[in-house]
Amino acid sequence: MSELVLTTREGPVATVTINRPQALNALNQGVLEGLAAAFADLAADESCRVIILTGAGDRAFIAGADIAAMAKLSAEEARHFMELGQSVCNRIESAPQIVIGAINGYALGGGCEVALACDLRIASDRAKIGLPEVTLGIIPAWGGTQRLPRIVGIGLAKQLIYTGQQIDAVEAHRIGLFNQIVPADELLPAVRSLVDTILHNGPLALRLAKEVLEATKDADLAVGLKAELEAEVRLFDTADRIEGMTAFVERRRPKYQGK
Ligand code: COA
Repeated sequence: MSELVLTTREGPVATVTINRPQALNALNQGVLEGLAAAFADLAADESCRVIILTGAGDRAFIAGADIAAMAKLSAEEARHFMELGQSVCNRIESAPQIVIGAINGYALGGGCEVALACDLRIASDRAKIGLPEVTLGIIPAWGGTQRLPRIVGIGLAKQLIYTGQQIDAVEAHRIGLFNQIVPADELLPAVRSLVDTILHNGPLALRLAKEVLEATKDADLAVGLKAELEAEVRLFDTADRIEGMTAFVERRRPKYQGK
């Protein structure tokens, strides 16, 4: 496992930390490959239910793709680098687990795009987020032009992409880009508390909720409704569904087994 990306485990929760604080966790080839490997391993791990993704140090989640490395790329080399960045974001987005971005500082460019691929974004009040690519003469190409409008709407996405400006945590929360903001020293406890709330819920229900949301976010309503119906019917055939409803009737906490 690469030193640039660290994975730790506590029961069903994995924490993936981008570990290049001297460069504000900028993503070069090595970090991207480390992230791809970490998320590939976790995708195959059925005992892992939630992934927390964060950056080492107290300044940055990820300050973007590595500009010094990009400066040397030919167009054809850039294609491979962008494809790698896109595939990492796709892996994060399609992880079978719920992925929570703990945004502990700058989330710029590729860092913003990685954050957009997470299911939820919980940020320190010192975080700043933006897509400054146009200031460098390029555009966001790890999903920024696609995922940002899906989250904040096309008008705000165009404003952020055309200006290249960073916004602070309060503004990012106001426009729905951050789900929650907390004081910097309370970030990890706040994320853990959210994780605990999620972990009380049915494991299969969580997996299928994400599966349906992801598989149908670009589908029309009829296709989406059919997918959620089929997923619901599958869940009715599970021990967890019976346990969840029996526990409610018996006024006790459900003990889910993921079956
Ligand atoms: N790529 C490569 N290196 C980066 C980087 C990036 N995206 N972002 C920061 N770094 C490096 C800096 O080069 C510096 O390295 P050095 O100490 O060897 O010179 C180190 O991280 C610290 O950054 P620095 O710029 O000195 O910190 P700062 O507090 O003055 O500014 C930022 C912080 C985030 C505003 C500034 O680093 C920045 O604008 N980074 C680029 C953001 C960006 O455009 N990202 C999108 C890329 S597509």
